[in-house]
This record gives sequence, structure tokens and C-alpha cells, in this order.
Amino acid sequence: MVIFKDIDLKSWYYILHPRPVTIVISGSWDDYSAMAASWVTPASREPPIAVVAIARNRYTYEKILMHKEFALCLLESRYAKAIHTLGSISGRDIKDKIAYVGLTKIKAKTIPAPVIKESIAIVECRLRSFVEAGDHDLILGDVNTVYIKSDIELLDTKLYKPLLHVGKNRYTESIERFIEV
Ligand SMILES: Cc1cc2nc3c(=O)[nH]c(=O)nc-3n(C[C@H](O)[C@H](O)[C@H](O)COP(=O)(O)O)c2cc1C
Repeated sequence: MVIFKDIDLKSWYYILHPRPVTIVISGSWDDYSAMAASWVTPASREPPIAVVAIARNRYTYEKILMHKEFALCLLESRYAKAIHTLGSISGRDIKDKIAYVGLTKIKAKTIPAPVIKESIAIVECRLRSFVEAGDHDLILGDVNTVYIKSDIELLDTKLYKPLLHVGKNRYTESIERFIEV
């Protein structure tokens, strides 16, 4: 007989972890905010749409509503500490969060906000709409452009290994082996 146990609804969402962590960035070159977000998913293939669930009190959310554009940067596990710090402090308190955590700003292709040079993949979006949910809102973005480090191949977990968020301060990385059916 299969035996299940109930999970407290306060932490139900860990059922959907681990999941890739992105750094969401919005604003201008000099006045931007960047935060960690693991509640990110594709929402449409054609047109290409990404969705990020962001709590309304995040400074980055304020910047997205103001500038109507944002980027998602994905980085590897060696940057876990920096990523965690980007997810623990607010742009309201730290002006240049990317530099503060030891990462490097570079120009984005289609938006005024900077992106992160150490990224393995970058997605740039134009705000399409937002949907009120509970303590987070869904931010829908039309994907303008996507680019990855030239030595990486998507669909190959030996090469494409974005940091995965297990929950709280715990992370993991993609296993190299994949199951092909
Ligand atoms: C790994 C990780 C993932 C996170 N994912 C989200 C998320 O998906 N949505 C969200 O609103 N906050 C998320 N957070 C929390 C924000 O990153 C955090 O509150 C951040 O300090 C907000 O910064 P800001 O005020 O500069 O925007 C996450 C934090 C961590 C460490």
C-alpha cells in the first residue's frame, strides 16, 4: 500500500522545487534593481512569453512597472553566494547590487537596464501585463531576445547548468546525466 503524508500548506510550493534561479533586473544603467527569482516559467512558445511571480514589495517590481522592461540572467553554481545575496538584500538599501555582490554589469541588447556578464544565459523582455495573484503578482513579459554563452548548448545538462534553488538557502545544480526516452 502506498502511504502519503500531508505537507503543511505554508510550504506547499517546495513540491515544485528545485527550479532554476534567475536574476531579474530592471531600471536604467545607473538606477536599476536586481533580485533573485526562482518562480519563473515559460508561458507561451509563440509568441514567446515568460512569467515571473514577484511580491509587490520588491524594489525590482517597482522598477519593472516604471520601465516596462526587464531581463532574466541565469548563472552557474559557482555564483550561488552572490545569487543568494541578490535575493536577500533590497535595491532600496544597496544602489549597485550587481557590483556589491562581485558581479559585472554589461549593456543589455534591447533594454536600458544592465545585465550580468557572468551569466550563461540572458533573456530580455518587454512587460506585457501583470496579473494579481496572492502575495505575489504574475509579471508577463514578451521575450525580445535570448542569448547564451557561445560554448553552451541548450538541452545538454553537461553544458547548460544554471543554479537550481532547492528552497531557503539551499541550492543544487543539474546532474550531468540525462534520461532520454
Ligand atoms: C533563491 C531565491 C529565489 C527567490 N525567488 C523569488 C521569486 O521568485 N519572487 C519574489 O518575489 N522573490 C523571490 N526571492 C526574494 C527576492 O529576491 C528578495 O526579496 C530580494 O531581496 C528583493 O530585492 P529588491 O527589493 O531589490 O527587488 C528569492 C530569493 C532567493 C534567495
